[in-house]
Amino acid sequence: MRRKIVAGNWKMNGSKDLVNSLVGHVRSELASLDNGVEAVIIPPALFVGDVIRQSGGKVAVGVQNIACWDSGAYTGEISAVMARDAGCDYALVGHSERRQLFGETDEQVAVKVVRALASGLDAVICVGETLEEREAGTAVSVVSGQVRRAVADVESGQWRQVVIAYEPVWAIGTGKTATAEDAQAMHSAIRAELASLGAPAEKISLLYGGSVKADNAAALFAQPDIDGGLIGGASLNANDFVSICRALPGKS
Ligand code: PGA
Repeated sequence: MRRKIVAGNWKMNGSKDLVNSLVGHVRSELASLDNGVEAVIIPPALFVGDVIRQSGGKVAVGVQNIACWDSGAYTGEISAVMARDAGCDYALVGHSERRQLFGETDEQVAVKVVRALASGLDAVICVGETLEEREAGTAVSVVSGQVRRAVADVESGQWRQVVIAYEPVWAIGTGKTATAEDAQAMHSAIRAELASLGAPAEKISLLYGGSVKADNAAALFAQPDIDGGLIGGASLNANDFVSICRALPGKS
């Protein structure tokens, strides 16, 4: 049975006030949900401690990025070891904004995956094609290549810590979503790629991200290879985030 995960990536948004108003609300609403969803909040790192205090252990917490190193003279960086020490469960790795705006390479993504897993964090590895790549018909090969390179150094006992989020770059923050069928097709291709690498592909949770909202989540989550979502904008609103958590069917 695969974990069903809805993760809210706050990006560089939010405040202590938002933590105080949102996390407790989400936690109490989730208490009445019986679809097995694991909700994760991924705030700016400064607010991780506040989210953990408000979550009462009922909502998992993550960081949006980690360094390629565990410690040292890397001003401004935060390591996976530190995130784990601070109480985080997850690290996002290779979000398209990190790749596009900060030049993060596939090689760095692979190193960060290793750091995250070694520290005990689960890694949510983000992959996705650009609009040009989709229009050129190379989306599957681009995404499969990103997956292959990101997990190159995952050890056999670590796969249970790996989650992949498929986020077509053209769907992030744009209001455009992949159709449920196109998303399913890519998730199926990702699962096939993982299987070809010798990973226990049927056990790995694959999330969809890119303009997931309360009104389109159910159709996406109904697809057999979509095990949850990575939510940006809609995760900043407690009711929207809870509605998306609710949209996940109980499935094995
Ligand atoms: P969005 O962002 O839901 O605002 O499109 C998703 C993401 O970037 O993870």
